[in-house]
Amino acid sequence: MPTFKLDGLDVPFEAGDTIIKAAHRVGIDIPHYCWHPGLSVAANCRMCLVEIGPPPGRKPLMLDVFEWDRDRQDYVQQRKPKLQPACQQAAVEGLDVRSQTSDHAKRARAAVQELLLLNHPVDCPICDQAGECRLQDYWLEHGTRKKRMLDERVRKPKAVVFGPTIVYDAERCIVCTRCVRFVEEVVKDPCLAKRERGNLSEIVLSPGRKLDNAYTLMTEYVCPVGALTAQDFRFKARVWFLRSARSVCVGCATGCNDFADYDPRNQTVYRYRPRENMQVNRYWMCDEGMLDYQRIHQGRVETALVGNKPVAREKAIQKAAKLLDGVKPETLAVVLSAEHSNEDNYALLTLVQGKLGASQVFIAGRPDGEGDDVLRDKDKNPNRAGVVGLAGAAPHSVGDLFKAVAAGKVTHVVSLGSEAFGISADDFKAIGKVTRVALATHSGPLTAGADVVLPAGSWVESEGTFVNKKGLHQQAERVISAVGDARPAWKLVSELAAALGKSLDFKRVRDVQRAMLGGDAPVPTRPSEKPLGAPV
Ligand code: SF4
Ligand code: SF4
Ligand code: FES
Repeated sequence: MPTFKLDGLDVPFEAGDTIIKAAHRVGIDIPHYCWHPGLSVAANCRMCLVEIGPPPGRKPLMLDVFEWDRDRQDYVQQRKPKLQPACQQAAVEGLDVRSQTSDHAKRARAAVQELLLLNHPVDCPICDQAGECRLQDYWLEHGTRKKRMLDERVRKPKAVVFGPTIVYDAERCIVCTRCVRFVEEVVKDPCLAKRERGNLSEIVLSPGRKLDNAYTLMTEYVCPVGALTAQDFRFKARVWFLRSARSVCVGCATGCNDFADYDPRNQTVYRYRPRENMQVNRYWMCDEGMLDYQRIHQGRVETALVGNKPVAREKAIQKAAKLLDGVKPETLAVVLSAEHSNEDNYALLTLVQGKLGASQVFIAGRPDGEGDDVLRDKDKNPNRAGVVGLAGAAPHSVGDLFKAVAAGKVTHVVSLGSEAFGISADDFKAIGKVTRVALATHSGPLTAGADVVLPAGSWVESEGTFVNKKGLHQQAERVISAVGDARPAWKLVSELAAALGKSLDFKRVRDVQRAMLGGDAPVPTRPSEKPLGAPV
């Protein structure tokens, strides 16, 4: 692989790479605002300027400049190297690039920083971006002095509603155009534009348009400062109180990789952010997925129910065991869930099919929704492929369960999950004479009218493996503790097995994973070990 030198280090690059892209790939950060690895190059912020030594045998490119000479109290003519934007300069074999080791580059960055802050309001105490703002970080790292402008700063529009999810503050905007390029290039919805020049520039909506598509929250995410804020996250949390875990979006079968940002003090998830995975979601997520964290704390089954009455979990498990004990295996059915992880489904299948002998396997999940060519899949389940893989053959749809019950072929059902591909709660209440034990995170059709409901932990309350539509096995970390009396579904199954006198020996999620992989196999590797929340 060809290489170039960056501050004395050899950096390998691929054909077509720019200096910043090659450096980014090996984890070296060249300061930047407007560059984003998933967008075209705008080269408008000039924060990434670097000094590049001349190719062998050539003279360096120099500029004539006037510098203020304190002693002479006058400007004197000087020469200095012509700096290049690392985001635009192609990587070339043998190039000698100086970023942190160039005094000229350092002075240029300090000047850019001073320019960007000339008209910037001192909003940090009330700005959502504070704590993860590029202007703050780079000012500490590269700013050298207080701003010298004594004039009143330029005033611009604040709190402009761009659409149902995003609010814009023109005074905070550094006009890097990342948001403009994102809607144009990724979403193909050119609804944002830049108007005016110099310190009057601002981002505006295209005439007659609103920022209202399936990826609006990504504009806030790519904004390197606090100019675009999300209605959903505005003023809800300070980011320095949040911790991040590597998770996987369960909003659809794409399985975008994300960071779940949560407050450990109240065990609450506040937002999802995309986690780079070039095989799955590149750098992006859709709005539906980014807001899907809300389901973690809404409509949850927090206590066990017997005949719709809250009871202690242990009592409900005893009741469920009593209902399932001695049932004829041929009339016992298991409903697996495309909403749940492989671990949860595997544990249930092991108990109901493996230990209790049920042969009728069904699958349930969330009903189909909208899909598109960017990321969204119309299958709104994160693990349909995983369930099909575990069941060995395509399980019957939950719709067939109604026919089996009506024909008297099924008398007892153990189900996992809440949704049933659009079949309503009322339909389930009228399913007929069947005994049902439901393990569920949320109230839904599968819990409606169930004899026993056991409160299951959600996708962020236990580590889990999800298989996306491409067949990629992806592991999500545990983020927060289970709410109320809930426990991970694999654990509930283990407790139910013990109550039935059928030991499963699943004490930790790793036990389930080991069993799933065939006993001695090593447990799956953890998600990519990229630094948490590393900015791009
Ligand atoms: S709103 Fe943010 S992303 Fe858009 S141009 Fe301004 S600073 Fe850049
Ligand atoms: S495309 Fe699917 S997996 Fe990706 S963020 Fe959206 S809902 Fe989640
Ligand atoms: S990152 Fe903005 S000019 Fe290079």
